[in-house]
Amino acid sequence: MLKVLVMVSGGGTNLQAIIDSVENGTVTNTKIVGVISNNQNAYALKRADKHGIAAECVSPKNFENRAAFNEKLLERVNSYEPDLIVLAGFLVVIPPEMIAAYRNRMINIHPSLIPAFCGTGYYGLKVHEAALARGVKVVGATVHFVDEGTDTGPILLQKAVEVENGDTPEILQRRVMEQAEWKILPQAIDLIANGRVEVKDGKTVIQ
Ligand code: GAR
Repeated sequence: MLKVLVMVSGGGTNLQAIIDSVENGTVTNTKIVGVISNNQNAYALKRADKHGIAAECVSPKNFENRAAFNEKLLERVNSYEPDLIVLAGFLVVIPPEMIAAYRNRMINIHPSLIPAFCGTGYYGLKVHEAALARGVKVVGATVHFVDEGTDTGPILLQKAVEVENGDTPEILQRRVMEQAEWKILPQAIDLIANGRVEVKDGKTVIQ
């Protein structure tokens, strides 16, 4: 059983997609061992509660400085002894110690086709605003392993989504979630849980 820790900041629709996929058997060999949010009011925490999953908040607001927060965050993460960390809309910079400790064992979902519309400043709705401002016709989502850069780690899965006339950032965000994110994030976990992913020379190989 792959022990998965999910980290969230907001609504948690991607967390919900993972929970549903584990419960309905689309994702196999997987147990969600916990959920950590940096935001006490994240609806994602309620979603975890409803499914009997251990959930807690570790907020930078409750610490004197970033180093103290980072230390506590890693301590709490380690306490779940996860095989895989899933960043599902977790909008906090991951401490370097955590990246090193979980190399090739931490994945992130990003709401664009990396390398488009990614990196510092591109998160949430901002990604979709930028895509519409540029006038691209195809957008999408990416699941990648987390390395020291922002959205630079080995790409695991991507799925394209078409832009339609009259799209607003909100409408486009929803379509990217429905058609791409909620599918490829559970799929990525299933591939890892079943030993089908290898990282070689900074790239992934899927069997
Ligand atoms: C998702 O669209 C996810 O791709 C994005 O935040 C949203 C979280 O929604 N993540 C990023 O932008 C990371 N750079 P959710 O809380 O409903 O899953």
